[in-house]
Amino acid sequence: MVYLNGNFLEKDKAFVSVMDRGFLFGDSVYEVLPVYQGNAFCIKPHLERLSESLEAIKIPNPHTHEQWRVILQQLIDHHPQHADQSIYLQVTRGCDANRKHTYGKLKPTVYIQSSPFEAARKEDFLSGLSAITRDDIRWSQCNTKATSLLANIMYAQEAKQNNVEDVILCRDNVITECSSANLFIVKNGCVYTHPKGPHILPGITREVVLECADYCGISTEEVPISKEELFDADEVWISSSTREVLPITKIDNTLINQGQVGEIWPLVFDRYQAEKNLNC
Ligand code: PDD
Repeated sequence: MVYLNGNFLEKDKAFVSVMDRGFLFGDSVYEVLPVYQGNAFCIKPHLERLSESLEAIKIPNPHTHEQWRVILQQLIDHHPQHADQSIYLQVTRGCDANRKHTYGKLKPTVYIQSSPFEAARKEDFLSGLSAITRDDIRWSQCNTKATSLLANIMYAQEAKQNNVEDVILCRDNVITECSSANLFIVKNGCVYTHPKGPHILPGITREVVLECADYCGISTEEVPISKEELFDADEVWISSSTREVLPITKIDNTLINQGQVGEIWPLVFDRYQAEKNLNC
C-alpha cells in the first residue's frame, strides 16, 4: 500500500499526472525516514526538515506535523508484517494546466511509500567499506532536500560501477559529504564533520551520530575537513537514515588506518542501536 493525496492504495494503482511539476521540473522535496519496531525514528526532526525544505522552495506545507504523524503511522500500520521499514515521502508543487517554469497557486501532490528495511548488522562491516572522491559539482542549496538529484544519482551510479559504497564529495579542497550520506572523520580521538550550511544536507542521522559520540564521551567538532585530513584520518564514517553509521577503510585505493576499522566506530555503532529504542 502507498499513500497518494489522501488515499491508501496499491502501488500499481497510484498514478500522478504528466503535468505534475515534480515530474516536469523535479519541483519537489522529500524525506526518507526509518521505522524501527513499527515506530518512525526521529520523526520530529524529519518533519521539521521537511517544513524547512518546503519553506525554502515556497511550497505551502499541506499538513500540520500532527497530521503528518497520523498519515505516516497509518501507512506504517498497513505493513504489520514489516516491523522495520523505510519511508519515502515526497511533496511536489502540484499540477498546472500547461508546462511553464513559473507557477501560480497549486495544490501540492503528496506521495508516501514504505519499503521493508533491514538495518545494518555490525558483523557485516568489520572489514570496512570503500569509497572514491570526486569534485562536488552540486548547487549551493544542498541543505534543501530536493528531489532534483541529477548530480547525486550520477555519483551514486559511478560508485556502483566502481564497486564502492559511495562517492565522497570535495568542494574547493573541503570534504562536504557523500552522494547520499554525511561524512565524519576521527583524528586523535575527536570526531569531525562538515558544519551545517548550504553545502551539505543536514542529516538527521548525522545529529544522532554526534549525540552518540557525545554519549560515549568522545569530543566532536563541526569544522571543514580538507582532502589531506580525510586521507590522514584514523577513521572515516558515513551516515544516513538507510545506512545508519558505517566505516570506510579505503578511499581511492588508499587505505585508511591500514585498512582497519578503528576503535571508535564500534562504540558509536552500538550506541546508535541503543538510540533506536528511544524516541527522538
Ligand atoms: N539521503 N546527504 C545527502 C546528500 C543525502 O542524500 C542523505 C540522505 C544524507 C543523510 O541524511 P539523513 O541522515 O537525514 O538520512 C546526507 C537519503 C537516505 C536518500 O536520498 O535516500
